[in-house]
Amino acid sequence: MKALVWHGKEDVRVDNVPDPVIRQPTDAIVRITSTAICGSDLHLYSKLTPIMREGDIIGHEPMGIVEEVGRDVTHIKPGDRVVVPFNISCGHCYFCDQSLFSQCETTRDTGKLAQTVNLLGRGRGASLFGYTHVYGAVPGGQAEYLRVPQAHFGPIKVPEEAQDAPDERFLYLSDVLPTSWQAVAYADVPRGGTLAIWGLGPIGQMCARIALHQGAGRVIGVDRVPERLTLAAKYGVETVDFSAVDDPARLVVEMTGGRGADSVIDAVGMEAAGSWYDSVLQTTKIQLDKRRALRDCMAAVRRGGTLSLSGVYTGPIQMFPLGDLFDMQVQVRMGQANVWRWVPEIMPLLGDDDPLGTEDLKTHTMALDDAPLGYEIFQKKQDGAIKCVLKPS
Ligand SMILES: NC(=O)c1ccc[n+]([C@@H]2O[C@H](COP(=O)([O-])OP(=O)(O)OC[C@H]3O[C@@H](n4cnc5c(N)ncnc54)[C@H](O)[C@@H]3O)[C@@H](O)[C@H]2O)c1
Ligand SMILES: [Zn+2]
Ligand SMILES: [Zn+2]
Repeated sequence: MKALVWHGKEDVRVDNVPDPVIRQPTDAIVRITSTAICGSDLHLYSKLTPIMREGDIIGHEPMGIVEEVGRDVTHIKPGDRVVVPFNISCGHCYFCDQSLFSQCETTRDTGKLAQTVNLLGRGRGASLFGYTHVYGAVPGGQAEYLRVPQAHFGPIKVPEEAQDAPDERFLYLSDVLPTSWQAVAYADVPRGGTLAIWGLGPIGQMCARIALHQGAGRVIGVDRVPERLTLAAKYGVETVDFSAVDDPARLVVEMTGGRGADSVIDAVGMEAAGSWYDSVLQTTKIQLDKRRALRDCMAAVRRGGTLSLSGVYTGPIQMFPLGDLFDMQVQVRMGQANVWRWVPEIMPLLGDDDPLGTEDLKTHTMALDDAPLGYEIFQKKQDGAIKCVLKPS
């Protein structure tokens, strides 16, 4: 089959690789019809190279048609249309029982690398599709076929009555929608309160729509990419172009009566662009400065407010202003999305009226063969790229 294969920093190619086969009774094989490129894939593309290996198949936002199931897989059958969550969870361990699916004990990577990258000596969370050699080294879903481990639990069936709906209505259940839903839940926006969001990629866009849908009074969105600011404004977001102001955090504080936003979401993560800090950090490696978006989020939240991190970070951060957050009594919540935890709440919003506008997130539909171009334009924010969806079959 054809698959998108990682060859090195900013070098991904579509290669011919062996077809996946059922290896465990809990496996399924899915023929992929749609599979999206995610901001998290950009970390693999450019930053997380030490935990990638040449030959890795990337991709964790797939959906398609079940081809084959192992004997323990009973809730789906060949021919069913399914979405595959990005975390691989067993559904019945200590953590899955508490809906902490991204911490699944059954699928945690027990390899030496996964153990050593956690500075607290606690290893890594659940395995993820197509996501490095510390999250299980599981081949990903930007491919014609995907082997789905723990398929007795993971795959989400597209409802019978929605078989005519386009893939894009349901595709984002794999990641974007539950991640955004969790970010908003963790942000704990008071009813009628103000949420500020750093980063208006797919995650930030959906956080804004979900928060407004759930009764936030105001959403302020910070980014610098014109079409992303425009799309957010279309959904009622007050936008701030951070490239046009000196200090976007201070502006958000001013916009909120001098107090700061009740809740702030970091939907940027470690790809953060750093304005004037950039040159300094290249040499000093003062990491908090490098993570400018995170610093801004902390500076924009009000005392007693909540900071919700959905942007992905790895490793230690120096110069973390712990004492200031303590003084400001800020609550901080974060983590990979526990996909299945939120699916029952999101599913009713995926009807024909499409209240979250899932179908207008996609800007590019591409053949799998064009995936390398998709990565390039998505990373460089070219050609209006907000969400690229690949169509392997
Ligand atoms: N927690 C999870 O389970 C989970 C799941 C999916 C994605 N993510 C993470 O969420 C983040 C966003 O994902 P995405 O797909 O929307 O990515 P994206 O790269 O499309 O969006 C990030 C946006 O942040 C903007 N940005 C960069 N620097 C900024 C700054 N200093 N201030 C404000 N905005 C800035 C960029 O212009 C871009 O529009 C990524 O870090 C991704 O890894 C987390
Ligand atoms: Zn993703
Ligand atoms: Zn589990």
